[in-house]
Amino acid sequence: MNTTAAPSAAPVSAPTEAPVRVAVVIGSNREGRFGPVVADWLMSLLGERPDFAVDVIDVAATDLPTALSYDPSAEVRAELAKVTPKLAAADAFVVLTPEYNHSYPASLKNVIDWHHAEWQAKPVGFVSYGGISGGLRAVEHLRTVFAELHAVTVRGTVSFANAGSHFDASGAHRDPEAPAAAAKSMLDQLAWWAKALREAKEARPYGS
Ligand SMILES: Cc1cc2nc3c(=O)[nH]c(=O)nc-3n(C[C@H](O)[C@H](O)[C@H](O)COP(=O)(O)O)c2cc1C
Repeated sequence: MNTTAAPSAAPVSAPTEAPVRVAVVIGSNREGRFGPVVADWLMSLLGERPDFAVDVIDVAATDLPTALSYDPSAEVRAELAKVTPKLAAADAFVVLTPEYNHSYPASLKNVIDWHHAEWQAKPVGFVSYGGISGGLRAVEHLRTVFAELHAVTVRGTVSFANAGSHFDASGAHRDPEAPAAAAKSMLDQLAWWAKALREAKEARPYGS
């Protein structure tokens, strides 16, 4: 029997990877909305992830009309300019959605529908919140929307049922361990897909 140990592989330095450019989309614009509390929680976790470079798209910061147009006015183009370049530059998205009447808010659908290629061949993760549902029905509806846009939704999600009760007045989560673990899982999946798709698109353009 040959007991000679196989020579150990020479150490290979990991290729330096550019961070994944992730756009966090805050989907609600309701007066008095809870969304920013959830967004701040997510941003603090993303701040600990050097593998992501983060941008934020807050639907409340734009005033896109619900009437879509192939020839938007100068005013509408100015609103699109706040959003479209950020979506186009992103490698990946985290969509924050509450649940309104068993689905996602119209404000989120509006920003989705104003765009098409910007979503294509990119991964999408979700952080949802709401009443008893935790926004899970909104997420399931969004999965079918993003499939139509050739986006890839990752399995891992973060869901906050009765969201308001989980955060204190300063916006800190009262029991952060489980949601942080869920967020890590979702972000790890998002990073994997973003890098895989980035490499694939470098090799060959996505054809729809
Ligand atoms: C119009 C409306 C409909 C809602 N419908 C649901 C629902 O179907 N299921 C649920 O769990 N929560 C529901 N909620 C609770 C919201 O998900 C919760 O208030 C959440 O914080 C709303 O997000 P926002 O504060 O960022 O707007 C609803 C709230 C509103 C305003």
